[in-house]
Amino acid sequence: MAMIHGSKHSRKAEIIVALDEPSLGDAQRLMDRLAGHADFYKVGLQLFTAAGSAALDAVKARGARVFLDLKLHDIPNTVASAVRSAVDLGVDMCTIHLSGGPEMAAAAVAAAGGSTAILGVTVLTSSNQATLEACGVHGSVGEQVMRLASMGRAAGVRGFVASALELPMLRAELGHDPLLVIPGVRPAGADVGDQKRTATPTEVVAEGADYLVVGRPISRAPDPAAAYDAILGEIKELEI
Ligand code: C5P
Repeated sequence: MAMIHGSKHSRKAEIIVALDEPSLGDAQRLMDRLAGHADFYKVGLQLFTAAGSAALDAVKARGARVFLDLKLHDIPNTVASAVRSAVDLGVDMCTIHLSGGPEMAAAAVAAAGGSTAILGVTVLTSSNQATLEACGVHGSVGEQVMRLASMGRAAGVRGFVASALELPMLRAELGHDPLLVIPGVRPAGADVGDQKRTATPTEVVAEGADYLVVGRPISRAPDPAAAYDAILGEIKELEI
C-alpha cells in the first residue's frame, strides 16, 4: 500500500491532480504531460463513468497513487461491497458521503481494512443553508459539517474532504490526526472558475491541509508540469 502520511508534528502537504477528463485518452495525455512531476491523481465520477477501472489501472501503471472520488452513499452492505472492489483495484483513498449515517461509514471503514483510506464528505460546497433546510436539516452549515465530521471520526474514517473555509475549524476541533484533503485551491492570481470558496496553496497548508486537490489550474495550464511545479514550490517554502 502507498504511504498516506499525517504526522503529529510536521505536516508535509502533497498535491493530488484531479483527472477531470472526458475519456481515458484525455487522462493519459494529461498524465503524460505530468510524468516525472505528479504522483497522486484523483479519479472522479466523470472519468470513472467513462472509463471504469481502466482509469485506475492507468494511474497505477505509472506507479502513482490513486484517489477514487465517487462519494459513495447507499445501504451499508452496498457501500462496503464497493469499497472492497476499490481495495482490490489498489485504490489509496476513497470517499463516502457521511450523510449516509454511522452504520454506512463504519461498514466502509471495516471493508477498507488498513489498505485504503476512507475519507468522509460532510456538506458539499455547492450546498448552503437553504439547501440544508430543503433537505430537512436545521441549523447552520458549520454545525452540520461538525456533526457529520464527529460522527465520521467515531465511525473510524481516516479523514475528510473539506473546503478551505472549513479547514481551520476541522483542524481545531479534531486535532492533528485526521487527514484533511482540500479542493478549490487556486494559486494567487489564478482564474477561480466556478469555485466560490477558494484559497491559495500557502493558505491551506498553513491551516494544516494534508492534500491539495488541484484540477484546472494544472490541467488547463499551457504547461501543466510547470503549473504543478509552481504550486509545489509554493508549498515547499512552508516546510521547516
Ligand atoms: O478544477 P478544480 O481545481 O476546481 O477541481 C477541483 C476538484 O475537486 C474537482 O474534481 C471537484 O469535483 C473537486 N471538489 C471540489 N469541491 C468539493 C469537493 C470536490 O471542487 N467540495
